[in-house]
Amino acid sequence: MLRAANGDLELDDIQSGVLRPRPAPYAATYLLLRIDDRRAGRELMRRASNVVASAARPTSPAADAWVSASLSFQGLKALGVPQDSLDSFAWEFQQGMAARAKALDDIGESSPENWETPLGMPDVHVVLTALAPDPQRLESVLERARKAYQELTGITAIWRQDCYALPTEREHFGFRDGISHPAVEGSGIPGTNPGEPPLKAGEFVLGHRDEMGGFPPMPRPDALGRNGTYIVFRKLHQRVAAFRQYLKANSSSPDDEELLAAKMMGRWRSGAPLALCPLHDDPELGADRRRNNDFLYAEDDAIGYKTPAGSHIRRANPRDSAVPGVVRLHRMIRRGTAYGPPLPEGVLEDDGADRGLMFAFVGAHLGRQFEFVQSEWVNSGAFIAAGDAKDPISGSNDGTGGLTVPRRPVRKRLQGLPRFVVVRGGEYCFMPGLRALRWLADLQT
Ligand code: HEM
Repeated sequence: MLRAANGDLELDDIQSGVLRPRPAPYAATYLLLRIDDRRAGRELMRRASNVVASAARPTSPAADAWVSASLSFQGLKALGVPQDSLDSFAWEFQQGMAARAKALDDIGESSPENWETPLGMPDVHVVLTALAPDPQRLESVLERARKAYQELTGITAIWRQDCYALPTEREHFGFRDGISHPAVEGSGIPGTNPGEPPLKAGEFVLGHRDEMGGFPPMPRPDALGRNGTYIVFRKLHQRVAAFRQYLKANSSSPDDEELLAAKMMGRWRSGAPLALCPLHDDPELGADRRRNNDFLYAEDDAIGYKTPAGSHIRRANPRDSAVPGVVRLHRMIRRGTAYGPPLPEGVLEDDGADRGLMFAFVGAHLGRQFEFVQSEWVNSGAFIAAGDAKDPISGSNDGTGGLTVPRRPVRKRLQGLPRFVVVRGGEYCFMPGLRALRWLADLQT
């Protein structure tokens, strides 16, 4: 079997959405399709291979607008992928996200029986994502996507979610997002933390060496698995009014409120990290891409006086903190886009609107990357000796959890954390390389 040497990424075979950060600002549309007829499904793959963008020429400005295509396990089955090939996919992927609810702590309001139809159902087969810097360019990208499935009897569009960067270019809780990205060896796309050496390509692209030194398990045959990766889509509803009420109820002044929000996130809303400006916000730093992710924790903040160990960003990526295990084995590429109207500034009552984040994770290891981070770091506190305390932002809290904010002379302990993020549904998908899309189109079973 021929394997590319380290660093030798075939960018023209890897889908753009795998390696390239989304534009900022952005407009995006997620489309879910069902394959009712396998021949139509294969024709869809053939057309998709002509409209999906590759990761080649990552710095070209025209490359900011693209379509990507991925399939659920049920989608691969609907295309007639042979059984021995189906059996070779990661077992978490074979089960699908809804079946993994217990491991992901998708319980109570977030449990699959409460998900939005058709999310989590077996007729979600193909996910098309169109992304562009603005609604006009999105429309022309969408037009390309439509050409792939329209007038194909046997393909039905079953769900659509539009996403737009908010006027503030922040996510709904008010924080700058899309700051921290790992560098991937051989991608030509720089990471954002100069203190983090690039990760081996095999962490994010199948068929290449990973951080363990070997090749991650790749679906068979090579023609299907190579240069593909796994994608996790999750629609996360955000309770903005509840978040604001909690901040207000637990602080003594507007400044104190901002500090509390920053302690929960690990960054001020401007994006400025507490690690670099622990006492006051620094919007210039927050906006400065060269500096706003240039920090580690161990040397001068082992205890978490600046960035609490339980804050969202320190949990999701403890960097060089002393935590059990090897942080580099649990890194994730994220592609979040906001959906729904913003809750006007200052409003503390819920207006009933659906708003939140379409969360997307990219990685070669569903189990040790996404599922590990979600279950061991976001929804447990054991790794930082915080018992069952969960992530204050995206954890599946139920009103009993808390956050310890180390302070001198005495730490502050936030209590009664409600759930600010409710899972509305999602799916585990496989994003094939471009040649693999054509392999799927040529299936003869
Ligand atoms: C609605 C839910 C969520 C919101 C509002 C949210 C918001 C944010 C924000 C504002 C940042 C800081 C900006 C940045 O570094 O790009 C961030 C970072 C991050 N988030 Fe989330 N997030 C959410 C859910 C999640 C979930 C469910 C996970 C993982 C399972 C996650 C993983 C991460 C990671 C890995 C980082 C980067 C940490 C670092 O490298 O410093 N997030 N998130």
